[in-house]
Amino acid sequence: MGYRVVVAGATGNVGREMLNILAEREFPVEEIAALASRKSLGTEVSFGDKTLTTKDLDTFDFTGWDIALFAVGSDATKIYAPKAAAAGCVVIDNSSLYRYDPQVPLIVPEVNADAIEGYKAKNIIANPNCSTAQMVVALKPLHDRAKIKRVVVSTYQSVSGAGKAGIDELWNQTKGIYVPGQEVEPSKFTKQIAFNVIPHIDSFMEDGSTKEEWKMVAETKKILDPKVKVTATCVRVPVFVGHSEAINIEFEDFLDEEEARDILREAPGVLVVDKREAGGYITPVECVGDYATYISRIRQDSTLDNGLNLWCVSDNLRKGAALNAVQIAEVLGNRCLKKG
Ligand SMILES: NC(=O)c1ccc[n+]([C@@H]2O[C@H](COP(=O)([O-])OP(=O)(O)OC[C@H]3O[C@@H](n4cnc5c(N)ncnc54)[C@H](OP(=O)(O)O)[C@@H]3O)[C@@H](O)[C@H]2O)c1
Repeated sequence: MGYRVVVAGATGNVGREMLNILAEREFPVEEIAALASRKSLGTEVSFGDKTLTTKDLDTFDFTGWDIALFAVGSDATKIYAPKAAAAGCVVIDNSSLYRYDPQVPLIVPEVNADAIEGYKAKNIIANPNCSTAQMVVALKPLHDRAKIKRVVVSTYQSVSGAGKAGIDELWNQTKGIYVPGQEVEPSKFTKQIAFNVIPHIDSFMEDGSTKEEWKMVAETKKILDPKVKVTATCVRVPVFVGHSEAINIEFEDFLDEEEARDILREAPGVLVVDKREAGGYITPVECVGDYATYISRIRQDSTLDNGLNLWCVSDNLRKGAALNAVQIAEVLGNRCLKKG
């Protein structure tokens, strides 16, 4: 006995990873449907050693399906997630549409799995922004020990966070940049991304911050603790997959760097790689395809009474999106639906 599972956005970066991870983790699937837009009708996608043929989300009937993993962007989510939820299918959504809705739980299972029961209000559960997910996995065990007051984070976010079009733009611009006539103008990004960095992700807000930065603030409060203050600078870098973050943390209580390292070594979802020597830390290319949130460069901040610095790296398509969504489905199955 398993679940009837829908993956909406199955041709996209996140959707393809969702199918991979459902298969890898042997999620109890009785039947699976891969959906995308009409233009992808009939496109083949892999699910373990099987091949699925993509169906049209617009005409799909969700009646009788248990769980729908959505990765189609906010516009399409707005139309189709309520239809799925009304048909009795629990939606786990990757877009930002429902993240701040008080009637929708926003979940990172290592941090706030107990919020799962809240799904009943709308039959919808939200998955956080990729940068938030990996950060709260790292912060949670430290917060439990020494109470975090304030976090200052700078991100180094890969182009896959901007979907298939982001990956294509970096690839084509990098190839074409020194070939006369083959230069690729910025289109998905606001400036050249090849051999460059761009301090701008998502739209600008009135206070001068960007929506991506605001998301990290609002989502950390909702998932971890409303009292934790966060200030973020989010930067796009020419990396295909894997987001990195330099995180500065101020605690209420003193936390020694050695104790922090030990706490993080034991923490769910975390792998510590922290040798104080050349190469003794993780970079984004090394985290691709992994489940873990890697922590390196753990060190005291001597400018604060109770401060630490660390470096946090994870696969944004996995812990930042698809893996987290599948982990939510596992919690939902084990604690609520109980069919598997
Ligand atoms: N990438 C990340 O790191 C990340 C992390 C967290 C959350 N997210 C969120 O996850 C969602 C998907 O991101 P992505 O990176 O996978 O994007 P993507 O690679 O551009 O893929 C988008 C997917 O959505 C489908 N889609 C778009 N509009 C549709 C419509 N009107 N009807 C049916 N299907 C539609 C596309 O189908 P076609 O191929 O047929 O167009 C494709 O399968 C977004 O909301 C994004 O914000 C992404």
